[in-house]
Amino acid sequence: MRGISIFLSAVFLLSACVPEKTKVDELMSQMTLEEKLGQLNCLVAPRGAVTGEQQSTGVAEKVRSGAVGSLFGRHDRDELMAWQKMAVEESRLGIPLLFGADIIHGYRTTFPVPLALAATWNPESMERAARISTVEASSDGLTWLYNPMVDICRDPRWGRCVEGAGEDPYLASVYSETMVRGIQGDLKADDEILACVKHFALYGASEAGRDYRETDMSPARMYNEYFPPYKAAVDAGVASIMSSFNDVNGIPATGNRWLMTEVLRNQWGFDGFVVSDYNAVGEMVRHGIGDRKTVSELALNAGVDSDMMTEGFVGELAASVKEGRVSMKAVDQACRRVLEAKEKLGLLDDPYKFLRCEQNRIYTDEHRKAAREIAAESFVLLKNDGTLPLSKGKKVALVGPLADAGAQYTGSWQGAAYDDCRSLLAAMKEAGCDFVFAKGSNMLEDAELEQAACRNRKYVRDPRSESQMIREAVAAARQSDVVLAAVGEPAWMTGEASSRTSLDIPQPQKRLLEALVNTGRPVVLLLFSGRPMTLEWEDSNMAAILDVWYGGSEAADAILDVVYGRVNPSGKLTMTFPRNVGQIPLYYNMKNGGRPAKTDSYKRFSSCYMDSPNSPLYPFGYGLSYTTFEYTDFALSADAMPSDGSVTASVKVTNTGSRDADETVQLYIHDVYSSMTRPVKELKAFRKVRVKAGETVEVSFEITPDLLSWYYVDPFETGAPQLALEPGDFEIMVGPDSSTLQTLMLNVLE
Ligand code: NOJ
Repeated sequence: MRGISIFLSAVFLLSACVPEKTKVDELMSQMTLEEKLGQLNCLVAPRGAVTGEQQSTGVAEKVRSGAVGSLFGRHDRDELMAWQKMAVEESRLGIPLLFGADIIHGYRTTFPVPLALAATWNPESMERAARISTVEASSDGLTWLYNPMVDICRDPRWGRCVEGAGEDPYLASVYSETMVRGIQGDLKADDEILACVKHFALYGASEAGRDYRETDMSPARMYNEYFPPYKAAVDAGVASIMSSFNDVNGIPATGNRWLMTEVLRNQWGFDGFVVSDYNAVGEMVRHGIGDRKTVSELALNAGVDSDMMTEGFVGELAASVKEGRVSMKAVDQACRRVLEAKEKLGLLDDPYKFLRCEQNRIYTDEHRKAAREIAAESFVLLKNDGTLPLSKGKKVALVGPLADAGAQYTGSWQGAAYDDCRSLLAAMKEAGCDFVFAKGSNMLEDAELEQAACRNRKYVRDPRSESQMIREAVAAARQSDVVLAAVGEPAWMTGEASSRTSLDIPQPQKRLLEALVNTGRPVVLLLFSGRPMTLEWEDSNMAAILDVWYGGSEAADAILDVVYGRVNPSGKLTMTFPRNVGQIPLYYNMKNGGRPAKTDSYKRFSSCYMDSPNSPLYPFGYGLSYTTFEYTDFALSADAMPSDGSVTASVKVTNTGSRDADETVQLYIHDVYSSMTRPVKELKAFRKVRVKAGETVEVSFEITPDLLSWYYVDPFETGAPQLALEPGDFEIMVGPDSSTLQTLMLNVLE
């Protein structure tokens, strides 16, 4: 009897230890090799599933035969429903599809482009924007957003810098984890879906700022400067990662086992799935690595789980498995990762979960209000001689080709944005402002306008001659007290495949500005841009410059909020504005070198130019307000700390003007002597605080060992680099931007 009961308890204990079979296990046990490879196949969803046009095409056949795991690029809910039904009801195992999309800064309600969103320096605003975008996108059935893009970029010639958070690893890491949180939540609710951090890795360091070029970088720089934002997303639990187009020190990222497996999985513990960028598997053929079969094998073996658009996995790998060039284990692992993502979303239990949600959650008043507030918060006041804010009584000349071009305000990724988003001209009319309007110029030279047509952005050239348009603008300026000039880059000049060698405001608009300045009226430049621009002439000649980026669907009202002083600007730059293109790459967290230049004047045998100062026009972290601030009483709670201890840095910030305002207080550090060369300063913390006119607030930061640690990486040694603190002297700096800092010394004891 006793023997039986021991036996029964052992059986009970054993069965309690054997993990229950999950839905994923069950599916995997029934799947053929081809069906497993099908789950790895990610294709653009063609339009027409509903109308029937696509019902018998290649993609439909593939969906029915289980040869597609995810579709992307379509967000019409009825279409998505039709594709999902096809997968669930007509394929053998009925596995639902993932629906991906580039919802980067808003769905229908559009928020400022990421570079601008980061310029709020406000994680709450970033998360609010991500949450609203996700609520809207998921309520149309999307389950996977290709967001956030966190490639560090120090080269504004690269058009894709608009899609990221800028040049700084810490700020970009805050942005990265915040966006992941905003999109995914805890992946339980029916408006919490998969995020996809991209582009792993180092895509923002494409040489010479030219898109799709090679990247060559020391591992020390990777770990300390370029990897942190991707790692922050992994630490925040991001469900997927997109590989990048570029090679990394000679091996394309998409076939790079060190990146995709050693760094991502072994060192960082990533447990989601990796998707290639669009045809990035296939493009390894042109990188010169091998034929389609070879590169498909390389990508899967490197750790890429899903193949976007090459169809190399689904087309080639069955043969590779049979030949032993790819193991069944590797295919199983990739398939399991994709299925687990579907399981996390709840799709394996309820394939229509996201296609059944309430639809009245799109472009609501509440969402638009948030977009307007966040847009206003993202604008950066670069110069102001007191002309801004305008008082209601001023007569305004509104000029410039961007004044009446609302469609441009939604920026480089337009989600499901309405084309007819309100322009500044319309908003000023509706607000009853006292103004006259003259367009003043075309956006670009005639030759450049042909590119606009080829970028398919419905741009229509104004047939009037340049001199006539300028005459009209000058006449408008002469009848007014002040000129608002809405100029800059059209949105399509930024984003993917939009590298430039000049960062000037396009020439026809610059000629317009010159004519306006000659009228003697104060000119306020409302700069539309998705990257740092070269503005030396503008800085000398404009009364004020407000960078309004591409502020999204509510940008026009947000601009008026700031111009008329209802909102006090608080945005700060997250990328350095150089004086000229020759200074690039120019970023605040550079190193000293052995012969640093002490001033901006030329000094022989020091590190400087003969024909340009070293300093930027506007530094990282910079942005003005309609008030002024004074920083006083900067102190450390102790001037020495043990290497496992902490100290508190505090500073008082007084609003010395007459308007309430928000100020972002920034903390930087510098490791004075270290076993590798380190940047002269690095942002380590920031705090955005409200300071009422005349009031003082105290801001404090806890300085802990992790703020002072960095990766020592010897490229010739193997093994995972560790974050470590080297005791000794550190400079602790606080201030309103990266070049206006007060410094105290902290000694970290052994
Ligand atoms: C290519 C882009 O590099 C990537 O950012 C985007 O997510 C994919 N295309 C899909 O549209």
